Amino acid sequence: MAATLIDGKALAAKLKGEVRARAEALPRKPGLAVVLVGDDPASRVYVTSKRKDCEECGFYSEEYALPAETTQKELLDLVAGLNGREEIDGILVQLPLPGGLDEREVLLAIDPAKDVDCFHPYNVGQLTIGAPVFQPCTPGGVMEMLRAYGVDPAGKRCVVLGRSNIVGKPMALLLLHAHGTVAVCHSRTPDLKELAASADILVSAVGKAGLVTADMVKEGAVVIDVAMNRNEAGRLCGDVRFEEAAERAAYITPVPGGVGPMTRAMLMKNTLTAAMLHQGVR
Ligand code: GUN
Repeated sequence: MAATLIDGKALAAKLKGEVRARAEALPRKPGLAVVLVGDDPASRVYVTSKRKDCEECGFYSEEYALPAETTQKELLDLVAGLNGREEIDGILVQLPLPGGLDEREVLLAIDPAKDVDCFHPYNVGQLTIGAPVFQPCTPGGVMEMLRAYGVDPAGKRCVVLGRSNIVGKPMALLLLHAHGTVAVCHSRTPDLKELAASADILVSAVGKAGLVTADMVKEGAVVIDVAMNRNEAGRLCGDVRFEEAAERAAYITPVPGGVGPMTRAMLMKNTLTAAMLHQGVR
């Protein structure tokens, strides 16, 4: 392997250590409420790991595991209750919600000052104009990784594969604010392979195992794999064919142990930010 491995696990541990130290200096512990509707096993795993992260950072946390039959009103009432609770600084409603629930209305109902996911249109707007209160967790985590390894997007050609609201779009914005030249590719992009192969920084967030082949990686590129897929053998993998891409890339993230832990650490950082705001600490 020619590439340097970007160790998300180690970086996340460092970031969480810093968050814990800052949280300990606050008059009141940061508090996070995580809401899970339905019994999607992957979401269940995420929620459990968020509880562990809160413990590690010395946060107060609450978990709400609601049945798939939960009504829109019940969910909105829960969110309204959490909005009004002083000990809760951050509210995370795990997505996707089961069919029948209106995701947009739920995200709109979260107090923007408690929107640690950075999904509320107010926070998306702040992000778009370059004045974010919270960092979107996954793209923010990617930017931390680039910074830690001395990769500056300024003047670089950045290609983002995927245009989701959670990753692709906010990722493109953060790279743009960091002065990268950004292309966002998606299922209707005819020359996706060529565009990917022109990238100095390639971020893949599609969710398709084996999508990024060696010929889509420029020699010396930085390859960030955001996806979490299962291959035919049932093992966790990203979008990138890691072994072959690593022969060409200068830096590459593994799956697991790359972006995933950083997403979780950024959620803790955002919860700390929310707690500081709520407690008037700068
Ligand atoms: N589902 C997949 N990723 C995320 C995330 O970052 N936040 C929430 N709330 N749901 C998700």
